[in-house]
Amino acid sequence: MQRTSLSRRQFMSAGTAWAGASLLGAPFVARAASPYTLPPLPYAQNALDPVISAQTLGFHYGKHHKGYVDNLNRLLADSPLSDLSLEQLIRSTAGDADKIGLFNTAAQLWNHTFYWQSMRPQGGGQPGQELAHRIERDFGSFDALRKALFTAATTQFGSGWAWLVLDGDQLKVVKTTNADNPMTRNMKPLLTIDVWEHAYYLDYQNRRADYVNAVLDKLTNWEFAASQLGSA
Ligand code: FE2
Repeated sequence: MQRTSLSRRQFMSAGTAWAGASLLGAPFVARAASPYTLPPLPYAQNALDPVISAQTLGFHYGKHHKGYVDNLNRLLADSPLSDLSLEQLIRSTAGDADKIGLFNTAAQLWNHTFYWQSMRPQGGGQPGQELAHRIERDFGSFDALRKALFTAATTQFGSGWAWLVLDGDQLKVVKTTNADNPMTRNMKPLLTIDVWEHAYYLDYQNRRADYVNAVLDKLTNWEFAASQLGSA
């Protein structure tokens, strides 16, 4: 099992920035610079029901995600950092105590956009051939990867995220705290699960494990994860 806890941020050069990914199967390209707008959901607000209800999605997307967009634009007003891409902004503020608010807000904007893409209606199942082969190579089996993701998502203490990432040429599962993102350690995210309570509490209350199992089995977008393997 490959699992790493990311409790320490590491500043990474903006020069190593890579492009992320967006609508299903299409390259994910985050907004180049401020002012930012709320990216559209890749499906209807009730499309993930009953695993994630329309009510949860409505609050999560319409209040939380939108709030990060609005707050980031407010924080970047008249800032020289407003010219940076979102990925550059995240990397350049990571680990800087004076810019923790900016980092948290920018990373949460990015993380949520990526989270929506990491799920799809009638998702779950098994990844395609290329990703399946790499999972077998690096984890031993799909079941071992699934167990690693479940463990990362359910053992993250407090708010945070579980991720499937590419670290160099190797697939790994990592977890991050609060807004942190593996890109601050130069790992490339392929898939994420939001384990902040706002992601599941209306539907599952304290039963985070039930939420994680349902997402893994019924919503995970393996096609999106596979598409990230080949993106720049
Ligand atoms: Fe969230």
